[in-house]
Amino acid sequence: MVFSRFFKKADQADLGDEADRADLPNPEDELAPEEMVEPSLAERAAARMPGAASTGSKRADALYGDADVDAPAGPTHFIRADGCRIETDARETLVDCTMALGAVAIGYADPAVTRAVMEAAGAGNVSGLSHALEVDVAERFCEVVPCAEKVQFLKSGAEAVSAAVRIARTHTGREVVIGCGYFGWHDWSSDAAGVPAAVRGNYRTVPFDDIAALERAVTDAGKTLAAIVIEPVVERLPSTEWIARARALCDAAGAVLVFDEVKTGFRLATGGYQQYADIVPDLAAFGKALANGFPLAAVCGRADVMDAARKTWISSTLAGESTALAAAYVVLELHRESDVCADLARIGSEMRLAVQAALDASGAGGVALEGLDPMWFLRFESTRDETTFLRTAASEGVLFKRGAYNFASLAHDEEAMHAIEGAASAGFIAIREAGAQS
Ligand SMILES: Cc1ncc(COP(=O)(O)O)c(C=O)c1O
Repeated sequence: MVFSRFFKKADQADLGDEADRADLPNPEDELAPEEMVEPSLAERAAARMPGAASTGSKRADALYGDADVDAPAGPTHFIRADGCRIETDARETLVDCTMALGAVAIGYADPAVTRAVMEAAGAGNVSGLSHALEVDVAERFCEVVPCAEKVQFLKSGAEAVSAAVRIARTHTGREVVIGCGYFGWHDWSSDAAGVPAAVRGNYRTVPFDDIAALERAVTDAGKTLAAIVIEPVVERLPSTEWIARARALCDAAGAVLVFDEVKTGFRLATGGYQQYADIVPDLAAFGKALANGFPLAAVCGRADVMDAARKTWISSTLAGESTALAAAYVVLELHRESDVCADLARIGSEMRLAVQAALDASGAGGVALEGLDPMWFLRFESTRDETTFLRTAASEGVLFKRGAYNFASLAHDEEAMHAIEGAASAGFIAIREAGAQS
């Protein structure tokens, strides 16, 4: 009865006599839209949650844009996900190109991952002691991530990068951090409302792939520089000169080089950008695809730097709970057995070819396909066009990402490619037609 709260009859306290009970819908059965609870889930979410969703990128305006266009926004809630497909609360099926913001690379509800997670849950996923699986996963993780001599598990990407920064500051005894990229919502790198100016004052941003700007920032920081934190792929690969310069500048300054591999790990290469480019940082943060959608993140790195974690305090009650570790164990096995990242690149390339074919045939302009094969995106010149595209594509059964990225998964099959081409085609034609009318 997990989903019973979504359905009108099962929600009612007065269930009537036995005959009525026999008529109660089985939540597993197909239900007509008129049987859904009113108001909609989106309305109920808006009433009870700021932004209507706990993940910013899953808010309706984040998904579909808020430009005033003819097409209505698409669905906001799902009840089931399988492979690359999601079933919405209105029982529509969408091919998902966002793959939970890159958290799922193998596929939703992958049988091997699900089995391992269920087994871990059945055996009790936490206790007063660490689970034995934590050691197995730590050992296997350190085998495949170049910088990882030691690792500590956490639950979110933001936690893992924050931990890396805390460790770097503890190791160096310094405070200033230079960064380039998105590292999650935590205070140290955020300029959002509510972040104290004093915290913000110890963080300097530099533009992506700009050697001169990086050198200036390092000179300005002088002996106060604790770390350079880099998200290695921001819409495109950086020049290796920029990354190599960051490595050399950290070495010269006695600072810590941190790679945020939350998106690139277990996707661009198993060991992330550092494996791909053969430039090894002192510390790195992983998350997302590491546990195929289960909540696990990791801070890892050189043993002497990681050991600074013992001089500070980095701990979370559920960091080592075993369901996410079990998922990660299966992911690590899959990467050991086959070249998962090569498959993701091939499948991503097929997705891009399908969208490019739709674009070429449509005659629409003002849009380009960019990014890397396993993580690509559409760059629209006009927000209105992007909104029109996303909403039209959703109504045709495909969820594309607004901005970066659409993520390939092993579950995007041939049928999905056809759906992607068809929905993209409808989206691009809608843009062209809207342009012709205005
Ligand atoms: C590069 C990068 N670092 C950190 C984060 C934060 O991870 P999480 O949302 O799991 O806290 C993200 C999330 O998108 C990310 O893309």
